[in-house]
Amino acid sequence: MLDKALKAMRNGEFVLMYDNEKRESETDMIIGAEFVTNREVTIMREDAGGLICTCLHPEYCDKIGIPFMTDIMDVAKDKYPILEALTPNDIPYDEKSSFAIWVNNRKTFTGITDNDRALTISSVAKLCSEKKFDEFGAEFRSPGHVSLLRGADGLLKKREGHTEISLAMAEMAGITPVTVVCEMMDGDTGNAKTVEQAEKYAKDHGLVFMDGNIVIEEYLK
Ligand code: 5RP
Ligand code: CA
Ligand code: ZN
Ligand code: ZN
Repeated sequence: MLDKALKAMRNGEFVLMYDNEKRESETDMIIGAEFVTNREVTIMREDAGGLICTCLHPEYCDKIGIPFMTDIMDVAKDKYPILEALTPNDIPYDEKSSFAIWVNNRKTFTGITDNDRALTISSVAKLCSEKKFDEFGAEFRSPGHVSLLRGADGLLKKREGHTEISLAMAEMAGITPVTVVCEMMDGDTGNAKTVEQAEKYAKDHGLVFMDGNIVIEEYLK
């Protein structure tokens, strides 16, 4: 199944990735950011419905200088004490959030349309693959409508989120390690889609459903 999923990643197709029952127990649609067009944003918005986030490999974050949001809060907390009071030390399923900053490509208008988000997402991947790290500030503004997530150093050796799972998949597939993740929601229950619902969606749409535990196991081998 992993081979099929890696091939799908290389082909620019969505893979449905379940993390595990001990964590969020959510299935995210994941895809390489370099392949994202307005069509993929529409699908994530309509069929997944979670937050559309762009994950960056920690090496890219270091090159550009993209911090975790919590690091920014830490630096700013003396001036804005509320930022210390807001410390996310009680996430029920993890120790650390991967949220970094929010950006829009400077060529976008509002930044939220499917065309605008696709431009922002795909141009982050393009800038990274072309190693134009110094141009990040010239190409993007912040805050924006695309949430960037910073992968943990060492990826799955340090954290087992969809952020790291999707970036590990990109590494193993040999595509640019900038990925897009979006949780699959269920409008009837108001909860995340169950594994069964996500598997049915995968079957109906000819997509690969993957258990994140298998990715972790293979990556750490
Ligand atoms: C952003 C999230 C999602 O859970 C997303 O899957 C990335 O986070 P994580 O790495 O924690 O799974 O929180 O909407
Ligand atoms: Ca999360
Ligand atoms: Zn997640
Ligand atoms: Zn989530």
